[in-house]
Amino acid sequence: MTPSPARIGAGPAAVDSAANTPSSATRRGVLAGGVTAGLAGAASPLLWVPPAASAARPVGVHLMYGDDPRTSMTVSWSTPKSVRRPRLEIGPDRGLGLDVPLRSRSSRGVASVYHHGRVAGLKPGTRYRYRITHDGGPAQSGTFTTAPRTPKPFRFAAFGDMGVNAAASRNARLIQKMDPDLSFIVGDLCYADSAGGTGLGGGATQDFAEWDRWLAMIQGTAARSPWMTTVGNHEMEEGNGELGYDGYLARFATPRTGAKGAPTTYSFVYGNVGFIALDGNDASYEIDRNRNYLGATQDRWLERTLKQMRATPDLDFIVVGFHNCMYCTNLVHGSDGGNRDRWERLFDRYTVDLVVNGHNHCYERTHLMRDGAPVKEAPRGAVVDSRRGTTYLTAGGAGQAVYPTGGLPASYVTVEGGLRVPELTTYSAVVDHTHSIAFLDVTPRRNGVATMKLVALDGSGAVIDRVTLRRG
Ligand SMILES: [Fe+2]
Ligand SMILES: [Fe+2]
Repeated sequence: MTPSPARIGAGPAAVDSAANTPSSATRRGVLAGGVTAGLAGAASPLLWVPPAASAARPVGVHLMYGDDPRTSMTVSWSTPKSVRRPRLEIGPDRGLGLDVPLRSRSSRGVASVYHHGRVAGLKPGTRYRYRITHDGGPAQSGTFTTAPRTPKPFRFAAFGDMGVNAAASRNARLIQKMDPDLSFIVGDLCYADSAGGTGLGGGATQDFAEWDRWLAMIQGTAARSPWMTTVGNHEMEEGNGELGYDGYLARFATPRTGAKGAPTTYSFVYGNVGFIALDGNDASYEIDRNRNYLGATQDRWLERTLKQMRATPDLDFIVVGFHNCMYCTNLVHGSDGGNRDRWERLFDRYTVDLVVNGHNHCYERTHLMRDGAPVKEAPRGAVVDSRRGTTYLTAGGAGQAVYPTGGLPASYVTVEGGLRVPELTTYSAVVDHTHSIAFLDVTPRRNGVATMKLVALDGSGAVIDRVTLRRG
């Protein structure tokens, strides 16, 4: 089968119409999903300057699934400046054969240009080769594999709060070694803006070159298996678009399956797992910079998506990811009542299996939760029926300095207005204050039972937690 769409001899990168970013439109426009190409185009920074041939190497190569992981993929990379005739070729063998149309974007504070090639019409469960080039520059090659047509065993990594530092680099190598089929990242990616949406710092806390250092650091894993990212508070970069997301959206071409006007949200299905990426900033009581910019639009989309996933015969587990913690005892950020108020009812109704959060720089896993309370104990090593309750995971130990500030037996939840209200923390099953990454091995139904085995490893590869969620 010849994948489509094919375009032989792609010309210079198209000027981005910014159709995938709401940040240059008004907030009203975002709420209405009314981003127009004209508006966005007028406000977009430069895109295409005809340059001389450049020997610059393509860097920061990273993959992201398109709308359907079985048949689509987005390959992204950057060049240190504008280059002539950037090109992405893809094919099932060394012959490649498919020239993928590109969109290229600049971003505030750096000379780098970010290129994105979205390809659809691929064959499920198939390994593809890709090659990135531009006139006068060296080629960068890689491979990826599309999701299987029918569920098969697979592995995904889950984590957040990485940054650029020695621990993050060690974890990036650990992820590469563990070779997951995909990674699900819950925000606070590189900390180019260390103010984190608080409005403090007045721009003095920004270093946008950190994005390129981070993308270079993760390339070993992100160029071979997709990094499915969500936004954290540190992706709300002051002065970078109304929502602060321009920097993030210049570098990540997310699937177009999310809430209307919100490219920070999306869903996808891989094998027997439905993944939902939410914009946690929209619901946070703790950091309210972007609170309610989507509101009911995101919640209605979430409910529709959950309903649809639960009605899909081969889909066993639902995994939801967003940044702020729904249940975490760590005293630095505690739990966010805004996310609970908006989404806990839906997670309960549709028996979401696993919610992955970051924000607190530590590892923590809850017992099975329903209606705001633990309903089934799940100590380290347990095998539990996840139809009985949702597991909330804080996986914020991917690299940024850890928060060794436990809150057992009492922590707090931030309620509307930013008030921290004390609460008992009977929900907590396992707490660890070292750097770590969670890996989940999923198997489809066998004799009527599907399993999702979580193993959390510290940077050296030592096991800090283990639990098995089962269905059936
Ligand atoms: Fe963080
Ligand atoms: Fe955070």
